Amino acid sequence: MTRLAFTLILLALLAGIALAAPQPIPPLPPSTPAPTDVPGVPDFTKFVPGPKLDSIPPNYVDLGVAPRSTVVSVTIGLKLSNFDNFLAQLSDISDFQSLNYGKHLSAEALAVLEPPKQQIDLALTWLKTFSIDATYSRGYLTFNVTVDVMTKLFQAEYHVYRSAITNQEIIRTLSYNVVSVLADLFEVVLPGIDFDDIDHHPKTSPAPGLQALHKRQAPPSCNSQVTPSCLQDLYGIPKDPARQPQNTLSVPGFLNEYANSQDLNFFLSNTRPNLIPRPSFSTKFIDGGKNPQEPNTAGVEANLDTQYTVGLVNGGHVEFYSSALNSLQGFINMANSWLAMDSPPSVVSISYGFDEKQVSPATARNLCNQFAQLGARGVSVIVASGDGGVGGGRPKDTCPQFVPTFPASCPYVTAVGATVGMTETGADLSSGGFSNYFPRPTYQNAAVTGYLGRLGSMYQGRYNTNGRAFPDVAAQGVNIAIAHKGQAISVDGTSASAPIFASVVALINDRLLAKGRKPLGFLNPFIYQKQGIFNDISTGSNPSCGTKGFPATQGYDCVTGLGTPNFGRFAAAVGV
Ligand SMILES: *[C@@H]1O[C@H](CO)[C@@H](O)[C@H](O)[C@H]1NC(C)=O
Repeated sequence: MTRLAFTLILLALLAGIALAAPQPIPPLPPSTPAPTDVPGVPDFTKFVPGPKLDSIPPNYVDLGVAPRSTVVSVTIGLKLSNFDNFLAQLSDISDFQSLNYGKHLSAEALAVLEPPKQQIDLALTWLKTFSIDATYSRGYLTFNVTVDVMTKLFQAEYHVYRSAITNQEIIRTLSYNVVSVLADLFEVVLPGIDFDDIDHHPKTSPAPGLQALHKRQAPPSCNSQVTPSCLQDLYGIPKDPARQPQNTLSVPGFLNEYANSQDLNFFLSNTRPNLIPRPSFSTKFIDGGKNPQEPNTAGVEANLDTQYTVGLVNGGHVEFYSSALNSLQGFINMANSWLAMDSPPSVVSISYGFDEKQVSPATARNLCNQFAQLGARGVSVIVASGDGGVGGGRPKDTCPQFVPTFPASCPYVTAVGATVGMTETGADLSSGGFSNYFPRPTYQNAAVTGYLGRLGSMYQGRYNTNGRAFPDVAAQGVNIAIAHKGQAISVDGTSASAPIFASVVALINDRLLAKGRKPLGFLNPFIYQKQGIFNDISTGSNPSCGTKGFPATQGYDCVTGLGTPNFGRFAAAVGV
């Protein structure tokens, strides 16, 4: 069938005209398939099996069939076109030695990655048959439907499952089917088989002798307690005001974590009293996100992330971006919203994550591909590596295989581990290791082969020697002072390390933009080329899984990556 005829049939369907339109159909010989099997006529009645799980993942309890009237937000990720060409271009523009370094791509330039329009239209036509008006944007279809409709769309049985670890209830299925004519187009269906309730809550303590905020003066060093001023001294972070108001650092918030302005005010008045006018953050919402300001709604993670970014970027623009979709789907929708912007933030700091195995490889790849696109747009995506050492997001007693975390394991993010002390040592909690989903990217070949050599046969068989190694870098992550619900408390976690590192990147960008240059964008090829810009951390380890964990060593290691930031050397390396 010609393309024109195909389009006409689609239009007819869109207009709600029955397929049995009075088109003269030539008589068919007996062996010819029935009309619905004629190539090009969409047959939405045939299904092929999609991905499936053999059993309910550990730590989840099946609470039975989901109520059919419950509304779920659906995201369907479509297979992108020309992606390999794009990745080659990304590595070229991220290579500091290339003439094309920093030549970031526009939103329009990335449109070549979108699936063929015909296929998108076919998917929209299928959804129309269920009276669904889906939104299409950059390779994703999104819509809200009842569980009842979802059951029919994917011939699947959706259940409610509760995580025994986080207590979150999620609606998922163990398998689903996809309409045959769309099977090649649909890469991921969410909610589907990903049992991916978000992990990562920084550990809090009532801060014994929390001098900093009570005595109204920051401690002179990071030894007893970390504050923005001790980080400025430790890493050489400048104190002079940021000058580029359009330079945005975006801080996502999930899990009903809300960033409180009063807590921020209290924090700044004690830790950065000279920062006048006293800066704050702007807010942005997606998928039902919000940011209520009643003091008891404040969240530790949201307060930590906003206090350390606002406290370090010296009046630069920090944005708190809240989503109520507490799963990888929430990350995907958020990333897609950044990609749709003409001027996306130049840095994103994510302190939420998953054990990699909680997420299916297809879904992990789908989000990772968005991070690659963000890198190409000039966005540095900074991610906490997790707080469970070699055990993943949280420490574990028994794990024959070490547990990598995601999105830290995505090769297109910069994963940040944690250190402790003035003479910095790798922090026990600092997650690190090797991905089981993503192969080792070229940019870290030399660094990681060196580390594998130093490991020798240690833990052989417990990690994937060919996987993407993480973290890439590190920053302080223990005894971090924050203000929370009007009190000074202390928190531990790579949840702190990520916003600290992200702030350093935002300040380098401030200088680049002041000189009319481009922001750093996808960082990793550059930082592995310029290892000397970091303070190499060679002591400490990340115990879990009944082991001492990986050792920090001279050079790259899976506890502290390349090391912690040295602002002066970083700035000199980019020439600002
Ligand atoms: C689905 O509903 C949520 C609120 O419950 C809303 O934020 C979101 O934008 C809706 N999604 C679509 C695609 O309409």
